[in-house]
Amino acid sequence: MSVSRLAKGVLSSLASEPHPSAPRLSGLETLPRPRDVLRPGFLLGAATASHQVEGGNDNDWSEWEKGSFPDGTPHIKEGQVSGAACDSWNRFADDVALLRELGANAYRLSVEWSRLEPEEGAWNEAAADRYLEGMRLLRAQGIQPMVTLNHFTLPRWVAAQGGWENERTVEWIAAFTRRVARKLGGEVDLWCTLNEPNVLTTFGYMDGLWPPGVKDPKRGAQVLARMLRAHARMAAELREHDTVDADGDGQATRVGLSHHVRIFQPATRSPLDRVLAGFTDRFFNQAVVEANRTGRIQLYAPGVADIDEEVPGLKGSYDYLGLNYYTRDMLHSDLRSPKLSRLTVAEGRPVNDLGWELYPEGLYQVLMRYGREGLPIYVTENGMADTSGERRPDFLQRHFEALVRAASEGADVRGYFHWSLMDNFEWAEGYEPRFGLYRVDYSSPEKRREPTPAVATFQALARDLGLEPRARTDAA
Ligand code: NOJ
Repeated sequence: MSVSRLAKGVLSSLASEPHPSAPRLSGLETLPRPRDVLRPGFLLGAATASHQVEGGNDNDWSEWEKGSFPDGTPHIKEGQVSGAACDSWNRFADDVALLRELGANAYRLSVEWSRLEPEEGAWNEAAADRYLEGMRLLRAQGIQPMVTLNHFTLPRWVAAQGGWENERTVEWIAAFTRRVARKLGGEVDLWCTLNEPNVLTTFGYMDGLWPPGVKDPKRGAQVLARMLRAHARMAAELREHDTVDADGDGQATRVGLSHHVRIFQPATRSPLDRVLAGFTDRFFNQAVVEANRTGRIQLYAPGVADIDEEVPGLKGSYDYLGLNYYTRDMLHSDLRSPKLSRLTVAEGRPVNDLGWELYPEGLYQVLMRYGREGLPIYVTENGMADTSGERRPDFLQRHFEALVRAASEGADVRGYFHWSLMDNFEWAEGYEPRFGLYRVDYSSPEKRREPTPAVATFQALARDLGLEPRARTDAA
């Protein structure tokens, strides 16, 4: 570890708040109208991921779901398994009909690597055809697909050979990307290579709560670096093998990744809280964003990581920055913890069903902060766990207002994808948290999708942008 980098980190943390001291969101009365501010072609959509909705998957997660921790606690709350999920693999047309009913003009979804390449080198053409049909259906309904190539899950054969700890995974996922680009490129322009490398690294390799259950921050940092190397390779494959401009905008591919950003606010004015909030912010938020500008992976956390590496193809590999924004954390230094800090919710603030603070201003702040990177931004996820469904309309409205305000002040925001289209398998939390614009009745054989009150809110936003919601019976 170089002393000068430590010193620089400390000084910059003290010099500036780790979260932007951007102006606060002000009164709604002065809010500009979305259609006056957002660009034509703004994407308003919803998001899902294959393992969370498709059902019937066989991958590292389906294995993990069966297991428990050494103390006997099941890996997934109440020992649940993803199982049939929302059965979207068989009910894709229903999901497209929901998107039409919302008035969405875009859908972020992922393709499941384990389904397409269940064994090393074996390709499931029938599954690939099915995805292709899905993309055609979306486009025929005026819905632009944004395809994520990897949303947390790995085929068993990749996991068995070390998963993200094996450098060969970079080549394997690049080869997978090439095949998907060739297969779907005629229908898809908008690609997202990886979903939330920082979250996968934290839960899977630092906290040991997700597969492969590793609890070693040093290994976690190596995995994050490897995932960025994989992103660079995947971006190159997409550009080389998807040469069809499906939507006729002059660009055959637009490549990015979905990056989870959080506001880390020092809990007190103590220099240690501020310094550690600064380091956490750099490691978790900033490194992935900067990688595109510098072409380097620079990860530093005291005693954990000191990585500074140039990666071929990383510089300029984002055509857009995808941001997943959910919440803010108050950071308290805690030198006894391996992460040197612990996170809490600001006192008295409202939270969602998972205890995450509802903080719409944070969306404004991250958009203003990253709007300065000179890249178009898509909010690739934003949503709340709300079983009642009663609080989601206000959540959606207020976050969209935050986005509109940021756009009116110069942030180049090109789209918003609500997480999620429907309730789904929330990883270690199982099926209890409900994030869906549509509530899923898991006990019904057809996994009935029922609108929550936020559907009307979404439709109003869509209408305001000139999009036209259609009754479900007319669609698909
Ligand atoms: C981000 C992840 O990409 C998604 O899989 C998850 O369900 C949501 N956050 C909510 O936690």
